[in-house]
Amino acid sequence: MDELKNKNIILGVTGSIAAYKAPEIIRLLVREGAYVYPVMTRSATYFIHPLTLQSVSREKVTLSLFNGDERDIRHISLSALADILLIAPATANIIGKIAAGIADDILTTTVVATRAPVVIAPAMNERMYENPVVQQNIARLKSTGYRFIGPEEGRLACQDKGKGRMSEPATIVGFLKKIFSKMEDFKGKSFIVTAGPTREPIDVVRFISNYSSGKMGFAIAREMRDRGAKVILISGPTFIKPPEGVDFFVVETARQMEEKVKEYFDRVDGLIMTAAVCDFRPVQSFKGKMKKESKERVVLELVRNPDILEEIGRVKGEKILIGFCAEAENILQEARQKLKKKNLDLIVANDVTEKGAGFEVDTNKVFLLNSKGEVKSLPLMSKRKVAEVICDHIKQILEERQANK
Ligand code: CTP
Repeated sequence: MDELKNKNIILGVTGSIAAYKAPEIIRLLVREGAYVYPVMTRSATYFIHPLTLQSVSREKVTLSLFNGDERDIRHISLSALADILLIAPATANIIGKIAAGIADDILTTTVVATRAPVVIAPAMNERMYENPVVQQNIARLKSTGYRFIGPEEGRLACQDKGKGRMSEPATIVGFLKKIFSKMEDFKGKSFIVTAGPTREPIDVVRFISNYSSGKMGFAIAREMRDRGAKVILISGPTFIKPPEGVDFFVVETARQMEEKVKEYFDRVDGLIMTAAVCDFRPVQSFKGKMKKESKERVVLELVRNPDILEEIGRVKGEKILIGFCAEAENILQEARQKLKKKNLDLIVANDVTEKGAGFEVDTNKVFLLNSKGEVKSLPLMSKRKVAEVICDHIKQILEERQANK
């Protein structure tokens, strides 16, 4: 396979003894047809000589932001050139700096400036790796889309045994190949992903809403983007940052979400409806601020909102339609009914009463039910991982459709 052919890979090398494996990573990448541009931090140069990396990569090794030729703004040109940025080995220090958004040398500025996927291969002593702050930094980076490979168990440089060894060069290169091959999964396809809650105004300062954080939908949008899809992300108000490189629209009410989905549905290959759409809205929203005055009791009359998914289900044709349902009881039964009623290809169901599943948290525990009647129960996993599994199913549906044509 040619996943690495003509790919531009920036290899960041930081100050760990595992830096001695960097030339082997470069050798394997170059052998597969990739161009590797090494960037070294100052500490890395204590472990391995830049000339070694230059010799195997046959490219200039960048050591500083200031290289004497300031016509080439190196961190900008490197970050724009990158198809992938790999940091191997990555120390606790570089992980901490990236997690904090620090950009004070050639490698960190390049990381901050790039739009390419960033892959981090940590290497450090086990006690450092297990340090809660290091773990928090890793979790933070993972939830923002940085990918990690390793570390693995084994003998460490300090003679301790434990988790902290950088993954082997061949494993790292295999991981990069997988990322590049995934980028082809949805190439030429486009999808709408909806996310977050809707807000239904009562007056200018109050609204009805729900606890949806948007995390699941944003994770799916990110994963679809990484697999080469054009993504239109339509979200209710959330506090999280949308992934780079997707078309992002913020809406407020269910009716605004409906309008936006319908505006784009003709142009896409499918709709993934993770949004927690409010089923009802106040019959009328007060123009100003509702005053309590002498009222002891207020009756709020609500009216049904459109069911976006059900309406789209009636006109979906060959397009892929995926729904979500958050239930407190009879999960599978409810999910089956919704799958059928809304004419879905797949429904993702979760029990909101279960710990670690549902709104606001970073993890989810779901069932997947498809239109063939198959049910799959997934263990508790990160929303990012759930997004991967959902995308694997979408890929499978696309392949089956292609085969049946
Ligand atoms: N949905 C929608 N429009 C609505 C309500 C829900 O498009 N007005 C979508 C959701 O985005 C989700 C699926 O329908 O993908 C199921 O949502 P859920 O709230 O579980 O089901 P409802 O159909 O609203 O039924 P109920 O709340 O009565 O369980």
